[in-house]
This record gives sequence, structure tokens and C-alpha cells, in this order.
Amino acid sequence: MLVALLPGDGIGPEVIEQTVRVLHAVCGDALTFEEAPVGGAAYKASGHPLPDATLDLAKRADAILFGAVGDPDCDALERRLRPEQAILGLRKELGLFANLRPAKLFAELADASALRPEVAAAIDMVIVRELNGDVYFGEKGMRTTPAGRRQGYDVMSYDEDEVARIARVGFETARARKGRLCSVDKANVLETSQLWRDVVIEISADYPDIALSHMYVDNCAMQLVRNPGQFDVIVTGNLFGDILSDQASMCAGSIGMLPSASLDSAGKGLYEPIHGSAPDIAGQGKANPLATILSAAMMLRYSLNRPADADRIEAAVAKALAGGARSPDLGGALTTAQMGEAVLAAL
Ligand code: NAI
Ligand code: MG
Repeated sequence: MLVALLPGDGIGPEVIEQTVRVLHAVCGDALTFEEAPVGGAAYKASGHPLPDATLDLAKRADAILFGAVGDPDCDALERRLRPEQAILGLRKELGLFANLRPAKLFAELADASALRPEVAAAIDMVIVRELNGDVYFGEKGMRTTPAGRRQGYDVMSYDEDEVARIARVGFETARARKGRLCSVDKANVLETSQLWRDVVIEISADYPDIALSHMYVDNCAMQLVRNPGQFDVIVTGNLFGDILSDQASMCAGSIGMLPSASLDSAGKGLYEPIHGSAPDIAGQGKANPLATILSAAMMLRYSLNRPADADRIEAAVAKALAGGARSPDLGGALTTAQMGEAVLAAL
């Protein structure tokens, strides 16, 4: 099976390097790797953040392991050439419409959460966020009002098929877990949310085994802090999911711990840590590679059909943490490579 490695910028290559060591140890020759530049690194090498050869590799591969993009040297570029356009382009070109972000607090890290330990300990959820629609992709522009004022606008819209396919991912994810799905919307004020809720309820007829509930997004933001242990799977739109998933991640400890998957309708996916390129610590060996190592575990589970290998990696991460492995973001002093070695030793 072919894995496309897109390390990108900043700490991306550092965390990918440790992840590949772990994958070699767990999967041996079952995986082959091919690497291509993306983001600022690709722009500097070839004038575009997502070169054709990189996109080609991503399309050919069975799964994509992505580091991070973002380079302060590129800040002055026009928007289409900026490193961050590469990840948006990949999502669009590959039809990656479902973003899965697990948030779980490793028991060993109870002190790293922004929440009280007894509240944080109960966190074990997955946020399923729609990635290809909503206000980010609607008509947008700048215009002048009749009164002569500048006005920016972004149209929020969803059609029923877009809602139905992400709802199914939510129900399936809940079925593979504790069987509880909470759909988050703002149906009291938004038409898109009213449609969202109607369609989720229609789809629920196919999932009588799943306990479905609905919550307004503002209440959900509050509940994530008050009692995050109540959630199993949350399904929501692009905008609400962007915000709630970052919020949930801080409840679960360091940004350096959290993986993600972005899936198409056939199960192919792009796997990446939720963090960015962290230019403030790049090149210093301070990056925590566990978010990327855990993303590789998701890749084995969701795209490469190697769930036992995924379990082994997740268990090794927990064992390394239990043994005291801590990078600086977790209050310790281990380097990126030493964190990788701690996981290898635990394997
Ligand atoms: P960031 O996630 O790169 O960094 C935020 C803070 O968390 C920094 O203090 C950083 O040092 C720390 N941090 C992040 N990952 C860490 C890790 N693995 N271990 C230890 N500490 C870690 O977010 P920021 O600073 O807002 O963005 C930096 C660049 O990354 C920007 O160009 C941004 O556009 C890009 N970015 C790219 C993403 C992607 O590739 N999917 C996602 C988010 C941001
Ligand atoms: Mg975000």
C-alpha cells in the first residue's frame, strides 16, 4: 500500500520523520512511502504550494500523511500562492468532505487539560465536521451599500445531499463507538440549520440503534466546558465544527496531542495533526510528534484496513506517556526524536 508523505513546512518534516519510524516498526514492508513537497516548501522549490506532481501523488496513493503548512516567509504572497492554499486545494481536489477529530484525554495527561481533572478525565469524543460546504464556500464578496458603506458578505448554504452524506458519517462513527450522536446546529435562527436538522432526522431512520440528540451551537460550546464527558460523537457543519473542534482539543490537553482524518466517500483519507507548522519552535527539536503518530494510527484504521496496527500504536503512545515521556508542550524536556524513540521503545 502506498502512503503519500507530504511533510510541508516548519515542524511538519520533524514530526513526519518520527511518524515514519513508528510506521516502519509496526508495518514493516507492508507500506511503501513516496514523498512530495507541499506548502511553502513547494512554493520555494517550484512556484506553487500544491504542484501538479504532489497532487498526482496524493491521488495515486492509498492514503496521505500530511505534516503542516505555513511559512512566515510567504506572508506577503497573494492568497492563491500562500502555503495554506495547499491543504484547501487537497481537500477540494480529493473530495475530502468529512473531518474526524477525536478528542480524548490520555489519563496520564490529566494535568495538561484546561479543565478540572475530574471533568477532563471523562473526555472521549469524536467531532465529525463537514469540510466542503457552508459559509467558507458560498458566494462571497465586497460591495457598497446604498448608503455608501463598504460591506463584506459570505453566503451560508447547504443542500440536502451535502447534509445527508456527512450525517451518515456521523451515524457510522457513532455506531463504531458508544452509539450516541449529537447533531449541532443553530436551527432557531438559520435556514441552513433547519434543513440540517430535518435531514439528520430523516437519515436517522436508517440508524435506529443510534441515540440521536440535537443541540444549538452556543449551548454546545458551553457544554464542552461544563460537562464534555456527555458527548460521544458530534456531527456539525464546517463553521461550527471549526470552532468547536479547536475548543474540544484544548479541553483534551496540548495541541501537540491531537490527530485528525479527512475522508472522501470511498474511505480514502488525508491524515494530519490538528496543529500548524509552529514556526516559533521549528528546527529546535521541541515539537511533540504524538499528534502525527496518532494520525498515522487513524490512517491504518480508516484507510488501510490495519486496525490491529492502529491499536498497537495507540497503546504504545499511552505506554510512553505512562512511562513519563514528555515533550516541552507537556511540561517535559524530551526532544522530538526522543519522543519518537519513547514510542518505539514502548512498541
Ligand atoms: P500552530 O498550531 O502552528 O501553533 C500554535 C502554538 O502551538 C505555537 O505556540 C506552537 O509552538 C504550538 N505547537 C503547535 N504544534 C505543536 C507541537 N506539535 N508540539 C509542541 N507545540 C506545538 O498555529 P499558528 O501558530 O496559529 O500557525 C502557524 C502556521 O501554521 C500558520 O502559517 C498557519 O496558517 C499554519 N497552520 C496550518 C495548519 C495545517 O497545515 N493544517 C493548521 C493550522 C495552522
Ligand atoms: Mg481551525
